Amino acid sequence: MARITAGVATSHVPLLGVAHDLKKDRDDYFGPIFAGYDWTRAWEQAEKPDVVILVYNDHASAFDMKFIPTFAIGCGESYRPADEGWGPRKVPVVHGHPDLAWHIAQGLILDEFDMTIINEMDVDHGLTVPLSMMFGDVAEWPVKVIPLAVNVVTYPPPSGNRCWALGEAIARAVASFPEDLNVQVWGTGGMSHQLQGPRAGLINAEWDNDFLDGMIGDTDRLRHIPHIEYLRETGSEGIEMVMWLIMRGAMGKRTAALHRHYHVPCSNTAIGHLVLKPDN
Ligand code: DHB
Ligand code: FE
Repeated sequence: MARITAGVATSHVPLLGVAHDLKKDRDDYFGPIFAGYDWTRAWEQAEKPDVVILVYNDHASAFDMKFIPTFAIGCGESYRPADEGWGPRKVPVVHGHPDLAWHIAQGLILDEFDMTIINEMDVDHGLTVPLSMMFGDVAEWPVKVIPLAVNVVTYPPPSGNRCWALGEAIARAVASFPEDLNVQVWGTGGMSHQLQGPRAGLINAEWDNDFLDGMIGDTDRLRHIPHIEYLRETGSEGIEMVMWLIMRGAMGKRTAALHRHYHVPCSNTAIGHLVLKPDN
């Protein structure tokens, strides 16, 4: 049986990909940010997950105003790093797990989550930056990845409650896959940030840390935060945090935190990172 063994949450700031690729990750500015991922890199090497279900958002790289899927699952064999304006990042091609992905797509759709199925797409910083943060400089990514893309770019994004419920449905689908696989779910994006307008640069450390607290233990209070609160308290791009709730929903009733990291500033954001275990 496939098993969800852990959940990882992390910001996916594109500047971290640049810092990594230009080997500036230990300089004065980036050092404290990357140091918060050292624990996780060692832990991932020991855990050796087979598959990561990587919840992220596309930033107008694969999708644009022509197509805006609310929830999409990648069922393809592989995904190339997207060209986001400076050429594709020189990181490995991402390999999928089509059998598990199709099984999850079927499970979710029959469970009444109407997923968009994607067989071909390029993946942008939302997906490749978390891989670099967790695995560093590698010739091949050491896991298969099932991309799960969420629209948090164009209003209306899905509610936090719906994201949490999707995570619960993902857990049911994974548990019914017959092959013995060690599966992690990652939720990416956030934390507080606003990239444009008069409030650009907004950071709300108190709110972010309360959100980190809410990811741990048996509370489900985060699933009821309305969109307007993310917007008001965490800036226009803080809504990316609803993607963390898909991971949280997949962990079951209770979680235990193995690792926690928060740092300000990183580009225009507050960096947040959590490693959780289901504790049911
Ligand atoms: C930044 C953060 C993001 O999450 C993103 O997708 C793009 C840019 C930033 O802080 O620069
Ligand atoms: Fe983003």
